[in-house]
Amino acid sequence: MYAKIRETAAWLKERIPNEPKTAIILGTGLGHLVDRIEKLKCIPYKEIPNFPVSTVEGHAGQLIFGRLGGQDVMAMDGRFHYYEGYTMQQVTFPVRVMYELGVRTLFVSNAAGGTNPYFSIGDIMVITDHINFLPENPLHGPNVPTGPRFPDMSDVYSPELIAEADRVAEEYGIKLQHGVYLSTQGPTFETPAEYRMFARLGADAVGMSTVPEVIVAHHCGMRCFGASVITDLGGTPVPVKVSHEEVQRAAQKAQPSLAIIMEELIKRSAQKL
Ligand code: HPA
Repeated sequence: MYAKIRETAAWLKERIPNEPKTAIILGTGLGHLVDRIEKLKCIPYKEIPNFPVSTVEGHAGQLIFGRLGGQDVMAMDGRFHYYEGYTMQQVTFPVRVMYELGVRTLFVSNAAGGTNPYFSIGDIMVITDHINFLPENPLHGPNVPTGPRFPDMSDVYSPELIAEADRVAEEYGIKLQHGVYLSTQGPTFETPAEYRMFARLGADAVGMSTVPEVIVAHHCGMRCFGASVITDLGGTPVPVKVSHEEVQRAAQKAQPSLAIIMEELIKRSAQKL
């Protein structure tokens, strides 16, 4: 697999306008930040050698290279989820390629269901830790020599970036929650019993992404920052129905605040962190 990663990175290096040290992966309904990128080059996934081929009609996905917050950045416009049928290696392949291209800080966002009773729909939760509830670990198999066989996981989400996010939120008057993100394999949302179980296990929010990418990024030694938009509340005593449309609507509402947090962090992370 390592040979394929290097082959893809080499192919991209010949075609990209800059060498970003920062990458962004955005989740459901959170494309607003992508719109703010001054785009220099967009490459559809289907043109990139060894890249997973998208299964979703009409949303093929592309890599964007450009400028945001005064920095060179690359962004994944469309991510790969385990529930779509990809292997964990496919889901995390782009992160490994990012590392080979020189990326050292990864920003990730997602839509998630809140299991913390103090959360409200539309809240932004800074991810302070995670629980991998997927059936597999993306580091399963021969160790890729970007990190140790048995990686420490005590500080996966950069405490410096979390502290800086808190400062940005205070300056802009944005309400931020903090909590533990648990990733399931999906594609089902949780039953009321499952939401209760996840709350008891220590989760504040539940979703279907992010953890694989972050595990691999951490294995590569990247700084990671993650944020969840709370799009529904499974943790309430009364069961509530959840739909994809509802999740997208709630994510839309939180977009401007999340975009400010991410853009400011990107601006400041190169300056003083
Ligand atoms: N569960 C899992 N994934 C989700 C949810 C949820 O409640 N909301 C948005 N993505």
